[in-house]
Amino acid sequence: MHELVQDYYGRQLQGSQDLKTSACCDASRMPDWLKPLLARIHPDVLARYYGCGLVCPPLLEGCRVLDLGCGAGRDVYALAQLVGPRGEVVGVDMTEAQLDVARQHQAYHAESFGFDNVRFVHGYIEQLEALDLAPESFDVIVSNCVVNLSPDKPAVLCGVQRLLKPGGEFYFSDVYADRRVPEAVRSDPVLYGECLGGALYWNDFLRLAHAAGFADPRLVEDRPLAITDPALAERAGNVHFYSATYRLFRLDGLESACEDYGQAVIYQGTVPNHPHRFVLDKHHDISTGKVFPVCGNTWHMLHGTRFAPHFQFIGDFSRHYGLFEGCGSRMPFDTEAAGAAGGGACC
Ligand SMILES: C[S@@+](CC[C@H](N)C(=O)[O-])C[C@H]1O[C@@H](n2cnc3c(N)ncnc32)[C@H](O)[C@@H]1O
Repeated sequence: MHELVQDYYGRQLQGSQDLKTSACCDASRMPDWLKPLLARIHPDVLARYYGCGLVCPPLLEGCRVLDLGCGAGRDVYALAQLVGPRGEVVGVDMTEAQLDVARQHQAYHAESFGFDNVRFVHGYIEQLEALDLAPESFDVIVSNCVVNLSPDKPAVLCGVQRLLKPGGEFYFSDVYADRRVPEAVRSDPVLYGECLGGALYWNDFLRLAHAAGFADPRLVEDRPLAITDPALAERAGNVHFYSATYRLFRLDGLESACEDYGQAVIYQGTVPNHPHRFVLDKHHDISTGKVFPVCGNTWHMLHGTRFAPHFQFIGDFSRHYGLFEGCGSRMPFDTEAAGAAGGGACC
């Protein structure tokens, strides 16, 4: 699979316009604060962007960031401006042709930004331990449309766990399927290269994330993908594909479900570029200044991470009130007794 993917991204594709799906994210969805950062990136780098989402979480100044499958470096150069001269961004990719484009423009970006804080490394994302990267040394790991291409996804997630600092996060966009992808689709070289054939069934991804120690994966955003080439759409059959951004925090104390301890947070409005609201994920759009009830896991995600100084925290873990339904889960039991004639506990 590695050779097939290297050939696809190193030789067959010459630019984003050669892709046969709508996987590449639409510039109109880009937040306004990010647009000037992209405007400073060299056109040759932008032309070889093959990502499917946005991988710029808030509050990156001074952070060490790793980009898995960085390609020609668009996200590395965007993140470099966000982490600033006190931070560093390392891009890893296995395709030399992609890394060549990224490296050719390193001096151009250093001059434009006024600092050189990026590094590009040749390597495989399922063998991160083979690279000269210290364990627990990254605040944030990102990846944009790459994990689906890996033949060993559990190894990728384990490598990410090892490299993240406690309280760090894996914030990544990828392609998921609405069911397990049949062998005929998985072994189609173009469907694989286009990031569809290797896509995980979303529920299998959640299982893998749990197994790798990420107890409560949070979905940030998602959108359906269109296969714009009719012949390719026919070969994909009835599988539906989605681009989705998840964030996985490396935190002790996360539970497998969202539990209610009667806690709440108040966002101070102090994260740069986010004065009115802080979006943790699809279920948590937290308005500035408002008391916002949270489950124990969300509490940890805000209290045990770089976000803590920007929140006020109310409550503790001393009393449990059952499942927290605000994160989308429900208790499995009926709360009304069916045909409640006798009313006793025995049936
Ligand atoms: C769809 S492109 C995305 C590139 C980049 N993230 C972007 O947004 O433009 C996939 C990239 O992942 C790299 N890649 C795929 N599988 C890889 C692996 N197992 N290890 C390292 N790089 C990989 C490819 O070489 C290619 O550059």
